Amino acid sequence: MKTALIILAAGKGTRMNSDLPKVLHPIAGEPMLIHAMAAGESLMPERTVVVAGHAAEAVRKAALAYDGTVAVVEQPEQLGTAHAVQQAESALAGFDGMALVLYGDTPFIQAETLEKMQAALADHDVVVLGFEAADPARYGRLVMHGEALDKIVEFKDASDKERAITLCNSGVIACRSDLLFDLISVVDNDNASQEYYLTDIVAIARARGLSATVVTCDEAETLGVNSRADLAAAEAAFQTRKRIELMADGVTLMAPDTVFFARDTVIGRDAVVEPNVIFAPGVSVESGATIRAFSHLEGCHVSRGATVGPYARLRPGAELAEDTRIGNFVEIKNAQIAEGAKVNHLSYIGDATVGAAANIGAGTITCNYDGVMKHHTHIGARAFIGSNTMLVAPVSIGDGAMTGSGSVITSDVEPDALALSRAPQVEKPGMARKMFEILKAKRAKAQRGS
Ligand code: UD1
Ligand code: CA
Repeated sequence: MKTALIILAAGKGTRMNSDLPKVLHPIAGEPMLIHAMAAGESLMPERTVVVAGHAAEAVRKAALAYDGTVAVVEQPEQLGTAHAVQQAESALAGFDGMALVLYGDTPFIQAETLEKMQAALADHDVVVLGFEAADPARYGRLVMHGEALDKIVEFKDASDKERAITLCNSGVIACRSDLLFDLISVVDNDNASQEYYLTDIVAIARARGLSATVVTCDEAETLGVNSRADLAAAEAAFQTRKRIELMADGVTLMAPDTVFFARDTVIGRDAVVEPNVIFAPGVSVESGATIRAFSHLEGCHVSRGATVGPYARLRPGAELAEDTRIGNFVEIKNAQIAEGAKVNHLSYIGDATVGAAANIGAGTITCNYDGVMKHHTHIGARAFIGSNTMLVAPVSIGDGAMTGSGSVITSDVEPDALALSRAPQVEKPGMARKMFEILKAKRAKAQRGS
């Protein structure tokens, strides 16, 4: 069966006490909305609809930045979860398959859980994701009758007997798309909150003789974020899970609690990550690479056998080929560093290509920005860039060429040439001694005068 995702993200999240809408608060460097969208991706959805409301434009932008094919619809007033889902109806016109409702503030639903729901929908009309709550608090309660789900009762509307139920509603619901909108069309707001509850579709379906059931998951998966404290707990839960996953995959983490990952961080077997490293989104590290302490990586690729850091910064577009060396206080941005090349100390290499086995001396900088535009620097294979060379882009250094330390290189250098662009050294014998004498005499005179 084809799948469509409906992701509810219209709420303000008052308890976040923030100008930023709740679903855009980041977990592992990415808006929690993106985590929810990614969770549904395992079902290979044919369509995804994000329901935005508060700060709709910002939510739209974030959703489209992640996936340009999603539809973002607006719920101008938040009249309840059923009303929110209803806003997706026109975007799903003509869609024939399973609609799966997810919440933008519930980022950790696992692929296997959604697959179980999809499977259960083969035998049932409505499938709800439930969990046994350690503290059921204000969650909606699932009223079961054997395997069948009779209805969902919101906490506010529940009797004492219903409040004693510990099987709770996660909010995730699966239903055939046409049936879902049909059921929603008769939901009213005659309840304690005067909201249109999505949860009411269960009782409506049952009254029509249709079937409803529950698939359960671990409470940790349904963890929702309502406050900054929840956000911190979600971040910690994410990091703990990711560290365990990576170590099980054969990655060495010397001090796991000090290393932070993004949702999409990929690290190969037998890679070593030293303490205090941060992986922002978009990083892949191949087998056997070493990421040394205090490095920060984002949007980059590190190949087999490469060493990064300590104290290195890899920014988006940094591509390190096999056996490259990126040392301390080196920043690499939008640059391809070919096999075996070394940038070992105190350099900035941006908008550049560096050839195989090139050696970039300490303090070298690609001057890529002229204040208005960015320009490219090419450094050929086996080139030797002397320490403290300023490469004023656009500029190209040929294969096997050298630059003298302290040079400011403004024009292209041909292969195998040596380029020097610094003032020639002048030596004046005895001059240093004379200078000292003059200066000391001046100081003595100044001290007598005071
Ligand atoms: C909802 C469920 C409850 C469940 C709980 C799990 C209903 C009526 N209740 O309650 O059974 O236990 O989630 O967390 O569905 N939203 C919109 N537009 C709206 C209303 C909500 O987009 O008009 C979004 C919110 O931004 C949020 C999600 O839907 O992401 C859930 O809404 P919320 O108000 O938090 O529902 P709960 O009261 O927590
Ligand atoms: Ca909630």
